Amino acid sequence: LPPVITIDGPSGSGKGTIARLLADRLNFALLDSGALYRLTALAALEQGADLTDEATLTEIAANLDIRFELRDGEVAALLAGRDVSHDIRMERVSMAASKVAAMPGVRAALLQRQRDFRQAPGLVADGRDMGTTVFPDAPVKVFLTASAEERARRREAQLREKGVSVSLRDLLEDIRARDARDMNRETSPLAPAKDAVELDSTGVAIDSVLQTVLQLVRE
Ligand code: CDP
Repeated sequence: LPPVITIDGPSGSGKGTIARLLADRLNFALLDSGALYRLTALAALEQGADLTDEATLTEIAANLDIRFELRDGEVAALLAGRDVSHDIRMERVSMAASKVAAMPGVRAALLQRQRDFRQAPGLVADGRDMGTTVFPDAPVKVFLTASAEERARRREAQLREKGVSVSLRDLLEDIRARDARDMNRETSPLAPAKDAVELDSTGVAIDSVLQTVLQLVRE
């Protein structure tokens, strides 16, 4: 089986950026597992499904018609052939994704789909449970963290770039609520795998984190 590098961590830890840079550098495929939960949430919202009904959500997750495609150097997420890359980042979709991700049926329905991303010469998998549940045999596992304050500041800078202004206090509250939901759910709660290397990116430049991970890959 082709090797997998798992990058897990909380919201805003920079794992998405690191995973993308790493995949580029190594010419590996990339799995953004959060996008699968977001696509499930978006499909459910569009169908007007009851977001608390696990059987319905599980059914939606199992039957998702999705594809990821490279468009202008960016990975586009397609739902039934339609580019929804922008839609899945909307706040109400993020909220819904966080809720559907807590459902064991949904997680089970998405498990094999995630494993199917594994391909030669290798895969970089970004998420919460890549190293613990989805690819427990991965030879390189990273658990990336950063303080909640730092993650809120990064999120604020990102939003400011898009012309959106929000208070740092609200963002911090939001991040803490998401952390709590991720860590307290019953199935695959956010936690480092026993064999994961924990990296704290607080105050560390992205490139320096990337160099550290590349060093782990070379070992
Ligand atoms: O990191 P961020 O909150 O911006 O979003 P994401 O990584 O795209 O994940 C979207 C949602 O899916 C979050 O609420 C995560 O808790 C959940 N998720 C998960 O449960 N398991 C994964 N492997 C990836 C994401």
